[in-house]
Amino acid sequence: MDKTFAAITGVAGYVPEDILTNHDLEKMVDTNDEWIVSRTGISQRHILKDPSKATSDMCVEAAKVLLEKTNTKPEDIDLIIVGTVTGDYVFPDTANLLASKIGASNAFGFDINAACSGFIYSIVTGSKFIETGTYKKVMVCGADKMSSILNYEDRSTCILFGDGAGAVLLEPSNAGGLIDAVLKGDGSGCEYLHMKAGGSLNPATIETVTNKEHYVYQEGRVVFKYAVKGMSDTIKEVLERNNLTNDDIDWVIPHQANKRIILSVADQLDFPHDKVLINIENYGNTTAGTIPLVLRDFEDKFQKGDKIILTAFGGGFTWGSVLLEWTY
Ligand code: UT7
Repeated sequence: MDKTFAAITGVAGYVPEDILTNHDLEKMVDTNDEWIVSRTGISQRHILKDPSKATSDMCVEAAKVLLEKTNTKPEDIDLIIVGTVTGDYVFPDTANLLASKIGASNAFGFDINAACSGFIYSIVTGSKFIETGTYKKVMVCGADKMSSILNYEDRSTCILFGDGAGAVLLEPSNAGGLIDAVLKGDGSGCEYLHMKAGGSLNPATIETVTNKEHYVYQEGRVVFKYAVKGMSDTIKEVLERNNLTNDDIDWVIPHQANKRIILSVADQLDFPHDKVLINIENYGNTTAGTIPLVLRDFEDKFQKGDKIILTAFGGGFTWGSVLLEWTY
């Protein structure tokens, strides 16, 4: 019997209208456009300013486009998975809110908390429901409202992140789709990238708020090194175990945290830079949103049969690489 793969059959994305440029940030913290562009590759990021909107609302916008593009009725969606660390609430999960908001009345859903690896963890999880024949239509979103957990007085983090959402539809395919994935995790990396308070260890108190512990904390230099190694190692592993070389790969789609990280990974593995897709200049790091937003922005380049690597590294630590074959 032919193996059933989970294929991406459509991609969509959404970023809010409001833009925060490097020049805007120059007026907020001690930084400058030259430093930000040369150290990160970022020129601007989109910010969800409307206080009544949250991560699920960005997912809704992406999901609506996805449903229309793929000619899918919301009630035909079986399962929704949202990769995010900035869900609307600690509970309930964003995926269920999203399902209700788009009328996916037959779907159940859940969130995956894997920070910048949220999309790849989610797409691999979603693919298993398709490969086993359990479901036919799985929507996978990666979305974060990072502006809700950033300290805009901390120049080392606030310049890096933006808000955004992406969504893909997974459907069964007999030729192409998600071929293989290597996913990794190491909780000892927590100390270098986390949010100090708001969880069960340090619930919100007046002190945690006063001490600004509800924001992203990152030791950037350490994370940088682990990120380059983690993405490079897992790309190598997924290529080797599928008997592939760089020449067999048409596109590499890395998580967009820092252009220097992306190019270091490409150089370590000898990938020509024109195979490595980058849009960080426009959005900054949208955490779980980066990879689906790259898929959206570069969709026109992909040809049926193209072999694509998705790779990510993020808080947890979480990381990994996915090999897929494009099917349309
Ligand atoms: O997506 C989740 C995973 N996250 C990542 O992958 C992020 C990984 N890390 C990074 O991307 C980089 O480490 C950063 C962009 C966060 C920082 O770049 P860096 O080249 O590692 O800079 P650094 O932290 O070593 O700082 C170099 C200097 C410091 O000054 P001194 O100590 O050399 O005088 C910083 O204080 O740059 C200073 N600095 C800034 N200067 C102007 C830090 N942030 C800024 C800023 N503007 N915004």
